[in-house]
Amino acid sequence: MREGEIQVAALLGSLRQGSYNQGLLRGAMLLQPEGMRIYEVPIRDLPHYDEDRERAGDPPEVRSLKDGIRQADAILVVTPEYNYSIPGVLKNAIDWASRPSGKSVLNGKPAAIMGASAGRSGTMRAQLHLRQIFVTLNVMPINEPQVYVTFARDKFNTAGDLIDQPTQEQIRQLLAALEAWTLRLSGP
Ligand code: FNR
Repeated sequence: MREGEIQVAALLGSLRQGSYNQGLLRGAMLLQPEGMRIYEVPIRDLPHYDEDRERAGDPPEVRSLKDGIRQADAILVVTPEYNYSIPGVLKNAIDWASRPSGKSVLNGKPAAIMGASAGRSGTMRAQLHLRQIFVTLNVMPINEPQVYVTFARDKFNTAGDLIDQPTQEQIRQLLAALEAWTLRLSGP
């Protein structure tokens, strides 16, 4: 951990222009506590995970992904729900980052999760799937608060910025919990 500053690598599960989840991540960057720096690690240009390709040497996009996660003290996953789970692009990024076995850059990282959906579930099922994936990766997510942003069109303006104050407060609480959890896990 850099002196006095917690570095948080953010993984965004939507590639869509005007994505609600992208707006949610931007909101988190504006609301991050003093002493925390959230930066996005891009996943857009990652190739499909392929063990042959990995054996031939990580492509540059994969090296950047792993570097971005490795240097972080914690991770923040901001994701929509696709078909009751996480989007394939996010799973692909996680699969790359988890390799090679025994040298995963995700191993032991504290994590926070949040997500926005157009409907009433607020990505609840995707977040549960992500928690299940985290078990095998030994990623350590905080349990509370759980941030499910429902009916997203009411909570973002036409520019895609998060304007809903209760959601902003939940994000503040989530990031404060992530900060405390990260310090606790890095403690003596
Ligand atoms: C969806 N959406 C969706 N929503 C949900 O609540 N549960 C779901 O299982 C799904 N499944 C799903 C599958 C696919 C392939 C797409 C494209 C969409 C709707 C989704 O929540 C909505 O499109 C969000 O706006 C996506 O998030 P971004 O791109 O706005 O961040």
